[in-house]
Amino acid sequence: MCGIVGYVGHRQAEGVVIEGLRRLEYRGYDSAGIALAHDGRVASDKRAGKLANLEKAMIDHPLPQATTGIGHTRWATHGAPNDVNAHPHLGSTGRLAVVHNGIIENFAALRDDLEDAGHEMLSETDTEVAAHLLELEVCAGADLTTAMQSVCRRLRGAFTLVALDAEDPGRVVAARRSSPLVVGIGEGENFLGSDVAAFIEHTREALELEQDQVVTITADAVSVSGFDGTPGEGRRYHVDWDLAAAEKDGHDWFMRKEIHEQPRAVAESLLGRRNAEGLLQLDEMRLSDDDLRDIDKIIIIAAGTSFYAGMVAKYAIEHWTRISVEVELASEFRYRDPILTHSTLVVAISQSGETADTLQAIRHARVQRSRVLAICNTNGSTIPRESDGVIYTHAGPEIGVASTKGFLTQLVACYLLALYLAQVKGTRYGDEIAQVMDQLDRMPAHIQTVLDADESIYALAREHADARSVLFLGRHAGYPVALEGALKLKEIAYLHAEGFAAGELKHGPIALVEPGLPVFCIVPPRGRDQLHEKMVSGIQEVRARGARTLCIAEEGDESIRPYADVLVPVPAVPVLLQPLVSVVPLQLFACELATQLGHDVDQPRNLAKSVTVE
Ligand code: G6P
Repeated sequence: MCGIVGYVGHRQAEGVVIEGLRRLEYRGYDSAGIALAHDGRVASDKRAGKLANLEKAMIDHPLPQATTGIGHTRWATHGAPNDVNAHPHLGSTGRLAVVHNGIIENFAALRDDLEDAGHEMLSETDTEVAAHLLELEVCAGADLTTAMQSVCRRLRGAFTLVALDAEDPGRVVAARRSSPLVVGIGEGENFLGSDVAAFIEHTREALELEQDQVVTITADAVSVSGFDGTPGEGRRYHVDWDLAAAEKDGHDWFMRKEIHEQPRAVAESLLGRRNAEGLLQLDEMRLSDDDLRDIDKIIIIAAGTSFYAGMVAKYAIEHWTRISVEVELASEFRYRDPILTHSTLVVAISQSGETADTLQAIRHARVQRSRVLAICNTNGSTIPRESDGVIYTHAGPEIGVASTKGFLTQLVACYLLALYLAQVKGTRYGDEIAQVMDQLDRMPAHIQTVLDADESIYALAREHADARSVLFLGRHAGYPVALEGALKLKEIAYLHAEGFAAGELKHGPIALVEPGLPVFCIVPPRGRDQLHEKMVSGIQEVRARGARTLCIAEEGDESIRPYADVLVPVPAVPVLLQPLVSVVPLQLFACELATQLGHDVDQPRNLAKSVTVE
């Protein structure tokens, strides 16, 4: 949510900053802006709308050359997404510029004080107060680093701030509290970004910061301190993906590319999980086996697509370990006063590792002395950092706002966690665990089989381009898949879509069914007879009322054919693993339908990839 870039070095900052913003635009695209340090003054431009608007404006009104700059792409919180509220914000004298991600909770009081002292605020944002406060400090003689420390001590809320002082043009200073910021370490140049995509083109060496730290970059140095000025240090790491991973690679959308990357993402997330004896090992787990043996309850917390991965995890963990599992929306969790003890394991699932609702939920759990394990795709992000253990997924960067490969790799991590707990607790024999691992190892090939039939799903999507509503039915592990299929359509096609547990249909939703309504039915494998039979009844019920049934069923399941207007075959796999294949046609369908409708699939309206405000 909001993308931030900072640069000091030997190149033209404008190009570096704009390129960085382009790679971060998935974080927010309500407006974009840039500020450069030039000749003792800030040179700046900012425009409502996507980055392209800013770029167009800069052709008509070029900015001067400079080697220090900052930039911002916005997801609006305070104030409408117009030119005035766009970042950067400047102080009164024009020597200082600031960009910001997050919310400064006490901004109203600070703003009143500043206005009483004669400062004129131009925007409705909370950010502008930070620009004025910083400028007051530097005009009183403080250097920008000291000014940032002092101002941050006065701010409440969650924020990343990045500032430059045009009278001290060789440095950019940033601060973070509960909001993302990483440093890119180059040669004779250094970078700041909301995530590493901002600078991956230039360097793969990164520095992760802790909470409440200020970082100062010059062309040759990076220094870190606390808000109180005490020296600090970040953690250096090497980014294990490169520029190619952050590009579309011939696809029209990142989302389509990411859907097609899923076989590899799943394979990589499974890599190296078994030791020489064939036992599972999760080496990023900082929880001991004794800790895990004590666990008597698991609560999974997550948001959006990650929440649906958590729902699938419940079926797998309870089945394989007999530990009871609750799944809860992160935004609801701490407000219901959950019962948490030292023997409760809280599992936080987050692709970005930055979702504010999830972060606040794990903080609440830790205060209650529960252990927290993160499942996350982003090295160096806040949620794994604040957890007792982490299982990293290896999806590579996910840029399309609607999650796809993030979801599949989260499922893999959930299965691994479930099997690992079963191994530690002895609730499953070793050979049973090994058998599931072998089945998981075959999943990339099965997912590829579904992808190889993408054209038939695209044709189906084109046939439904004028649909006004689509329903999704599933049972057991297919229920979260139905919810995820509906979410994908809502997110990118802006279409009314609802997912239901097929058994609930008769308790209300069936009233929605009218002739011609497309209904996706996720059919469980035949091995689970009861489930399968009940699902077939549900399909018959909607079909009898005129629905058009689009059935995703395992190949060779001829029993479905009489009730399916369209049959979408997926490879035969065990019921608990079926979401890994059955969700893929739904992702392809949503991507193509949204494309047909002319929507921007990677940047859907009103959404942001990583939601860093509660
Ligand atoms: C946002 C995104 C969703 C995502 C959710 C959770 O709402 O638009 O696609 O599923 O956040 O994100 P996380 O990074 O915590 O998995």
